[in-house]
Amino acid sequence: MTGSGRWAGETPGQRYDRLALPFVRHYTRLLLHGTVVPDAGQVLDHGAGTGEVSLAIHRRHPTASVTALDPDPDLLAQLRVKAGGDAAWLAVVHGTLDTTSITISADVIFSQLVLSLTTNPGHELAAMRAHTAPGGTLRAAVLAGPDRMLAFAAYWQAASAVIPGALAASAYPHLRFTRPDSLRQLAEAAGWQQPRVEPADTHRTATAAQLWQWLSQTLPLYTADGDVIATDALSRARSDALRRATLEHLGQYRNSGGNYEVPTAGWLLTAVA
Ligand SMILES: C[S@@+](CC[C@H](N)C(=O)[O-])C[C@H]1O[C@@H](n2cnc3c(N)ncnc32)[C@H](O)[C@@H]1O
Repeated sequence: MTGSGRWAGETPGQRYDRLALPFVRHYTRLLLHGTVVPDAGQVLDHGAGTGEVSLAIHRRHPTASVTALDPDPDLLAQLRVKAGGDAAWLAVVHGTLDTTSITISADVIFSQLVLSLTTNPGHELAAMRAHTAPGGTLRAAVLAGPDRMLAFAAYWQAASAVIPGALAASAYPHLRFTRPDSLRQLAEAAGWQQPRVEPADTHRTATAAQLWQWLSQTLPLYTADGDVIATDALSRARSDALRRATLEHLGQYRNSGGNYEVPTAGWLLTAVA
C-alpha cells in the first residue's frame, strides 16, 4: 500500500515508521532497560517489523548477533534499508517460528508488541521457549486491556458506537491481556521460569490530527463476525463521526497547549528459560 497526497510513494515500511514508531519507541526504551545481553550473545528480535528493537540492540550491544524474524516482507525491507543493507551482526528471517526452520538458541529474546497480535499467544510463548538457550531470557512488551490502553480503546469504542455491527473495544484480541496474571500464567504454562509481569505505563503525545492518523490508519476495524470493515469505503459523514467520537473519548487527556497525552499502557514480561 502506498500513501496518498503528501505521502504518495511512501513504502509500507516508511508508513509504519511514520505512524507507529512515535508510539512504539517508548516501549523500546523500557524493554531494553536493564536487560543483560552477553558479549557476542545471540539475540532474537521476535516480530522485528522495521527493526526498531534490532537496531536499538545493535547500538547498545554492538558485539551481539541479532536475528530479526517477521512474517511481513514489506516491513523487513525497511529494516534492511535502515540497517544499511547486509550487515555482519544481523540475520533477517522472513516468517514465524512455526513457518521457518530457524535454529537459533537465543541468549535473549525480545518481542515488542507482537504477542497480542498472534492467534495463539500461549503457543507462541512455547515456540520462543524452544528457541532459547538454557538460562536465556525473554523480554516481551504486550498491550494491556482497554481500561489501560486507552488510545486504541477510544478508537474501537467510538467505532462500535458509530458503525453498525462494529466490535466493542473489549472484544478485540489486541487488548486481551487485561490482567498481568493472565500473561504470567500463560508464560508459566509455556515452560518459562520465574515469569514476572510489570506495568509499562507509557503515553503518546500528539496533536488531534496525528492521533487520528495513527489510530485510523494503523488499527483494523472488525465486525462481531470477525470480518474486516473497510474504512476506505466509509462515507465522509461516518468517517467524520468516528473521528469526532474518538477525540471526544480522549478529551480528558487534552493538555493546555491543545495536544493530547493519551495513556498507551502495556505490560513488560520477563522470564527465564
Ligand atoms: C506492532 S508490530 C511491532 C513490530 C516491532 N516489534 C516494533 O516494535 O516496531 C507487530 C509485528 O509482529 C509481526 N508478527 C505478527 N505475527 C507474528 C508471529 N507469529 N511471529 C512473529 N512476528 C509476528 C507483524 O508482522 C508485525 O511486524
